[in-house]
Amino acid sequence: MINEFKETFGIDGHVGFHFGKGHMPKAIIENEFASAEVYLHGAHVTAFHPHNSSPVLWMSNIAEFRHDKAIRGGIPVVWPWFGPHPNDDTKPQHGFARISEWTLVSTTALSNGFTQLRLQLSDIETTQTLCPRPFELELSVTVGTQLHIDLVSRNIGTEPFIIGGALHTYFSIGDINRITIEGLEGREYLDQLQGHQTNLQKGTITISEEVDRIYFNTDDECIISDPVMKRHIHVAKMGSNTTVVWNPWIAKSQHMSDFPDDGFRTMVCIEATNAVDDVYHILPGEEHTLTQIISVDDKY
Ligand code: BG6
Repeated sequence: MINEFKETFGIDGHVGFHFGKGHMPKAIIENEFASAEVYLHGAHVTAFHPHNSSPVLWMSNIAEFRHDKAIRGGIPVVWPWFGPHPNDDTKPQHGFARISEWTLVSTTALSNGFTQLRLQLSDIETTQTLCPRPFELELSVTVGTQLHIDLVSRNIGTEPFIIGGALHTYFSIGDINRITIEGLEGREYLDQLQGHQTNLQKGTITISEEVDRIYFNTDDECIISDPVMKRHIHVAKMGSNTTVVWNPWIAKSQHMSDFPDDGFRTMVCIEATNAVDDVYHILPGEEHTLTQIISVDDKY
């Protein structure tokens, strides 16, 4: 299997393949600007490491690599609903894209030296019970000075359907007590820890307890300022009007079997989200693209 990937999709100086953890196939991207890793399970980006900085994505050191489970860390693809299913709690939290096996459709060395991978998921038998409408989902991952992710939802059937989701990115930080997140000042948010109470964000975000918030009416870039790692991480997006900020803090970290007890200290999730009213009605033949663009400024 790995040899077939190498023959069909390998590109010298850009893309190679290996069995990763759990004997799951992964693509390794290495170019003049950065390295990255993408598992076919979940179309999950598990690493992005620009050559001028340290790794940008946080990965749990006890993540489980199983076909029925989402990988903890990196960029889980949440689709076609965000959080619990709106009216059927037997369906998986955050949808099924992150626990599905995707198909690699192309790898390209772009003229600017960046590397692009495209992966697809369609309404094969295993997903039909979870999403009865014909769809095609495509994730394109472009690795260079920045990491650019596009998640394209296509309606290839004859009935409209509604989609939500997120690029649920885990960022690696020096110390949760010392970072600030800029870009959401003055926005209202739903506090998922307080019975869905709505609050107003005053000033930049600092975190000193569990945080699970859905910010509304925002397509703004967020900037993580990290004085310990001496860098700023810029998180821009398109096709999303809600942003989720999540840190599980102490008790929830201890409760999750695939999350180290002290993991909350060195991670924060900033998610380009389509949730609550920010969901998309996709008509037959139409598509919606959710984008997240991540870059690092190593001058602090
Ligand atoms: C966030 C949600 O997006 O994901 C949180 O807002 C949730 O409520 C978190 O706890 C992690 O979810 P999961 O399913 O990956 O453990």
